[in-house]
Amino acid sequence: MLSISSKEFLFWKKKQLSKGGDHQSFAVLLDCIAGLTNSDLNISKINPERNLYLKKNLDDLESIWEDHLFNSSPIQYLCGTAFWRDLRLKVTDKVLIPRPETELIIDIVFKIFGKKSQKLLFAELGTGSGAISIALALEYPMWDGIATDIDRDALVVAHHNFTNYSKQSNLKFYSGNWWTPLDSVKGKLDLAISNPPYIPKDTYEKLPKEVKYFEPKIALLGGEDGLKHIREIIQKAPLYLKEKGWLILENHFDQGEKVKQLFIKNKFNSVEIVNDLAGVGRFTIGRYK
Ligand SMILES: C[S@@+](CC[C@H](N)C(=O)[O-])C[C@H]1O[C@@H](n2cnc3c(N)ncnc32)[C@H](O)[C@@H]1O
Repeated sequence: MLSISSKEFLFWKKKQLSKGGDHQSFAVLLDCIAGLTNSDLNISKINPERNLYLKKNLDDLESIWEDHLFNSSPIQYLCGTAFWRDLRLKVTDKVLIPRPETELIIDIVFKIFGKKSQKLLFAELGTGSGAISIALALEYPMWDGIATDIDRDALVVAHHNFTNYSKQSNLKFYSGNWWTPLDSVKGKLDLAISNPPYIPKDTYEKLPKEVKYFEPKIALLGGEDGLKHIREIIQKAPLYLKEKGWLILENHFDQGEKVKQLFIKNKFNSVEIVNDLAGVGRFTIGRYK
């Protein structure tokens, strides 16, 4: 541990932020690499005479910050950590950085099933870091869940994240293409969730550098029109869901109406587009018959 006066640290912090970047990313750096929490920082502001203890020296922290600023490297990958709802998740370049808008999926589940619910079986298709499945498995310890992904490296990260939070075995991890790993639970799922790759090809080409050059293409690209994977997931869902089982999908900001029509065409009821906090039709939900 390195000791530094609060006054010296706050001066250094101001200098780093003057180079660019946002306070939230800087807080991730301080928390994950330097071991300084928000409360440490607040105390240092109130009492500048107090010393702070850092896990890394200022030069090392500065070079990570500059890598973030000047090479557009996402701070979450540099720090190996992403914060999502109340979870602190390990992330590597094999998994998408879980997005704040996706957090709402958990609230949609609460709205459908209530916070206390009897035993049921859910699956998440394309779990990435495991964020959605882990949040559900922790929130509903009596539920059984299966988190799948085509990328085995992503599943290793998701499994690590789950065991970091739970000693329970109510979440399993299977690898394979969309529904294929779920053949043993055909017709038995009460709930299936997916935030699949849904970026149309043209849009993908124009994504900002920090996304396109760093996040896995397989997690983002949804074919020519962005709907390639969504179509496949919806078409096969009736084979895997129980009667009256729910399907919850995240989609691109402008795909809501098209995804809704795909649900209806495949005989789903109670089909609804759900807005995110920015008022964008970000999710589509439906119940199979
Ligand atoms: C948009 S990311 C979502 C990750 C995570 N669920 C989240 O919300 O942060 C899509 C995920 O789907 C996985 N994926 C892509 N193609 C797949 C396929 N054909 N079958 C299963 N998973 C796939 C990717 O590896 C990636 O982890």
